[in-house]
Amino acid sequence: MHGIIATWRMAKEGIEQSDKMLKEGKTAAQAIEVAIKAVEDFPYYKSVGYGGLPNEEQVVELDAGYMDGDILSVGAICAIQDFANPISIAKKLSEEKVNNVLVAEGAAKYAREYHFEEKEMLTDRARAFYRKKKKELAAQDELRPYDGHDTVGMVCVDNNGSVTAGTSTSGLFMKRSGRIGDSPLVGSGFYADSEVGGATATGLGEDLMKGCISYEIVRLMKEGLTPQEACEKAVNDLDAKLIAKRGKAGDLSVVAMNNKGEFGCATNIEGFSFSVATENLEPIVYLVTRKEDGHCEFEEASQEWLDNYMKTRMAPVEE
Ligand code: GLY
Repeated sequence: MHGIIATWRMAKEGIEQSDKMLKEGKTAAQAIEVAIKAVEDFPYYKSVGYGGLPNEEQVVELDAGYMDGDILSVGAICAIQDFANPISIAKKLSEEKVNNVLVAEGAAKYAREYHFEEKEMLTDRARAFYRKKKKELAAQDELRPYDGHDTVGMVCVDNNGSVTAGTSTSGLFMKRSGRIGDSPLVGSGFYADSEVGGATATGLGEDLMKGCISYEIVRLMKEGLTPQEACEKAVNDLDAKLIAKRGKAGDLSVVAMNNKGEFGCATNIEGFSFSVATENLEPIVYLVTRKEDGHCEFEEASQEWLDNYMKTRMAPVEE
């Protein structure tokens, strides 16, 4: 049984490609990289790869993480600038014996050494968003860096039962230079163990990492919870704990898939969507609703919703 699941609607085209690859017998390692690269390459997604929004100094700093659940290899890069496909660099790093997590210039040096594609990642559209945000910030005193931020995270299972997980993000818009969130942190942004399954997260990295949420979901699945039960328990417990101890919880959204291709999702926000394909399910986008009791339900996105999504993403930036 194979499958791939990803945070947000933006992953749909990528998982369509990966779904075909998995059907042809390609590995979870190959399929997840192709799917995440598709998101990184699309210029209209503001929080991943090319076209990702910059930090407060108008520099795009990218983070990515990758895990091979067969042998628990991990690779990650943090705050790298001007490379087209951070996920591929993270994946390559997972093959190293040591030096698996590299930051900033060290990560760039490694990427150059292995001839990964260099590309100016700040687009004119991202510059326009930056100018607009600067104006808005001048008019308000509180920085709300989360606005418009969605990380892509994926979990993939192939016909051999190998599980991989990966993430890619430009992080919070207007973040400080050098800031990273959960996405390149194993256990927080992503986790995979082929004996169980994998999980990945999106939302406010500073809060997601407080619960090592992706590891927690895999741990709960190992204890016997279904992916849906594990996702809901991890999100609801962390949400409640953050509120109890800190007065509020940031955005927490997760997806998971076990090594049988069964999947789940959970969120503490309105408007979370995810994309998924399995042997028995053609690539599809689901919209998630969180009920008052913390249970999350999902239903297929309508064509109207899908059309509107693209229209909004590609609309001109009104400065
Ligand atoms: N979840 C991505 C970040 O906080 O950077």
